[in-house]
Amino acid sequence: MTDHTPLTLPLNDGHTIPWLAFGTGTALLRRDAAAEVRNAIEHGIVHLDGAQLYGNEDSLGAGIAAADRPREELFVTTKIADLPDGQTVRDTLVESLKKLRLDYVDLFLLHSPMRGLKGRVKEAWLELEALQKEGLARSIGVSNFRIQDIEEVLEVGAVVPAIEYHPYVFKASQPVLDFGKKHGILATSYCGLVPLTRHTGGPVDPVLASIRERLVKDTGKEVTTGQVLGLWLRYQGTPQITTSSKLERVKEYVATESLPDLTPEEVQQINDEGSKIHFRVACKWIDDE
Ligand SMILES: NC(=O)c1ccc[n+]([C@@H]2O[C@H](COP(=O)([O-])OP(=O)(O)OC[C@H]3O[C@@H](n4cnc5c(N)ncnc54)[C@H](OP(=O)(O)O)[C@@H]3O)[C@@H](O)[C@H]2O)c1
Repeated sequence: MTDHTPLTLPLNDGHTIPWLAFGTGTALLRRDAAAEVRNAIEHGIVHLDGAQLYGNEDSLGAGIAAADRPREELFVTTKIADLPDGQTVRDTLVESLKKLRLDYVDLFLLHSPMRGLKGRVKEAWLELEALQKEGLARSIGVSNFRIQDIEEVLEVGAVVPAIEYHPYVFKASQPVLDFGKKHGILATSYCGLVPLTRHTGGPVDPVLASIRERLVKDTGKEVTTGQVLGLWLRYQGTPQITTSSKLERVKEYVATESLPDLTPEEVQQINDEGSKIHFRVACKWIDDE
């Protein structure tokens, strides 16, 4: 158990969201995530990112139950992507809560405007609002929404769009981020480590390496290039939803919170180099416009 106090950011509905999140999709998709979730919580990550689509909410619940941390200190997200025949959005959340062994989630998201929610975004959003009033979800939001999709739900409530956000989608993401800022909407980032994982050898590599060296010199601590990407997100006030199968990496993610800020020049260098290419991992339909 750690005495680390997680960094948090405010949402527009009065709640806060912890900056660093541990996800149970991608590497843990449809896998038992209980041990990894427990490790993450016990080493200082209190924000857990789950989804009905990940097929492992029961193991997320088991990991939470096994970890020694009070419920009110945790921030648990789940998402709806499909509406099985005869079920309401509420029915799916009640099922999720049973699997998660919780009375409420901190954040309930529409996972995407596609799949089972295609053409039903507005009606699903109204159900989310009712669930927030009922207390089954403290905050509500959307994920993988384009500006035109967010506009559909903008007349009401707190919206937290989750988007793929790393230097190689920096340029393409600016319109939706600017739109969010204008409307008091906080965006969270997933796949933030893409330059280190799915697209290595790209133009940001030398910049990340030199910033890492600068931080090592200034702090006298070990600093990784992954942490530099985390600091790039933190500088922008964007929560980082990441994951890992390794305890050492979880500690590394948490340690990012105590590193100093990047300079504005360093952030600009990453933006400039990142903008030289475009590489999106998930929801490639976002680019088909
Ligand atoms: N809303 C959505 O539609 C959506 C979409 C995608 C993802 N997500 C959420 O975001 C979470 C994280 O997504 P992500 O996995 O794409 O995040 P990420 O932060 O880009 O990558 C994390 C992965 O990178 C690996 N990694 C970390 N540092 C590394 C390094 N230095 N070298 C090589 N590999 C390294 C980790 O593997 P190790 O096990 O080796 O540490 C881990 O599997 C998901 O689990 C999910 O909860 C949401």
